[in-house]
Amino acid sequence: MKLSRCFTSADFRKKARSKLPDPMFHYMDGAADDEWSMANNASAFSKYELLPEMLHGVENIDLTTHVLGAKMDLPIYLAPTGMSRLFHHDHELGVARAAQAFGTMYGVSTVATASIEDIAEACPGPKVFQTYVLRDRGLTRELVARCKEAGYTSLCLTVDTPVAGNRERDLVSGMTMPPKFTPASLLSFVLSPEWVFHALTGGGFSMVNIEHRVDGSQKGGIAAYINEQFDRSLTWKDAEWLANEWGGPFAIKGLMTPEDAVKAREHGASAVMISNHGGRQLDCVPAPIDMVAPIRDAVGDKMELIVEGGVRRGTDVLKAMALGANACAFGRPYLYGLAAGGEAGVRRVLELFSAELDRGMALLGCTSISEISEKHVRRIP
Ligand code: LAC
Repeated sequence: MKLSRCFTSADFRKKARSKLPDPMFHYMDGAADDEWSMANNASAFSKYELLPEMLHGVENIDLTTHVLGAKMDLPIYLAPTGMSRLFHHDHELGVARAAQAFGTMYGVSTVATASIEDIAEACPGPKVFQTYVLRDRGLTRELVARCKEAGYTSLCLTVDTPVAGNRERDLVSGMTMPPKFTPASLLSFVLSPEWVFHALTGGGFSMVNIEHRVDGSQKGGIAAYINEQFDRSLTWKDAEWLANEWGGPFAIKGLMTPEDAVKAREHGASAVMISNHGGRQLDCVPAPIDMVAPIRDAVGDKMELIVEGGVRRGTDVLKAMALGANACAFGRPYLYGLAAGGEAGVRRVLELFSAELDRGMALLGCTSISEISEKHVRRIP
């Protein structure tokens, strides 16, 4: 299937599946335990209906959105995801160029396979750097300093990963970083010759921003890595320390309750990314879309709320905005695009989202993002 014949996230996923060896595909596509939260993140959007307003004069649609100290041309951006080189040799730089081309923001992961500085060069526009606090606190300070120097607009601290979630697909497929052939996955490598060719000729599978200071000698997979390197003693005091260290727009990513969102505000965050890590950490937690209205009620108008999890359509974004979000982000949809066709695949995903949003706004009767409000949505009785 050509990229131009891909229309839905399911189309890109299918194409990604055909290109990737099993360990890479399942690492991207899978989630924790029974993957209930992952499925629920997407299906929860169908509990809401949009209420369009007719005869509203919609010849000029403006999708401009301000969030995390940045102006974006769209109310969506590319959520931080780890190790893009696993999925395509265009890796983070391809994703960064696609974000730049669409005037949107890229969320750059601590465990990226391209450097903070190279990504900044590929994407001079707004960027958020996602950080974990690693056991080596000096490394966190170093990353913050490098992001300031390279002109990142904002910082987000992911707080839902004190230990790795139970991703059973990774255990079955034998996922490791860097990737290794195992008897169980060998055939899938043979069936992915393009991926294998680029892996053998290009390499580039290391976590370049942290490898100089973390011990890369662990023998296990991703879970072992997280469990060894991430600081699980983290508390709100540390979040506040980081907010001060950064001194600019600061988000906490991975909160799910109104109580925690209020604490985030009290400890120096200007934004909350309502997220359950795409269902990859604790399973059986609510869908982000279901928590927008209660969190908005608790934190008031000023705090920025970003919905991450299960966003697959322009109408999902409109629902989130109507319920009180300032923007949405998505991970798997653009990674499917990346695996399917590199930078061109990510561009095609953004092109489709952008067209859906433009059309969706006109059909909803809104000409600017600020016009979308609670009157445009209802929970199905
Ligand atoms: C994951 C980490 C890297 O979800 O964020 O795999």
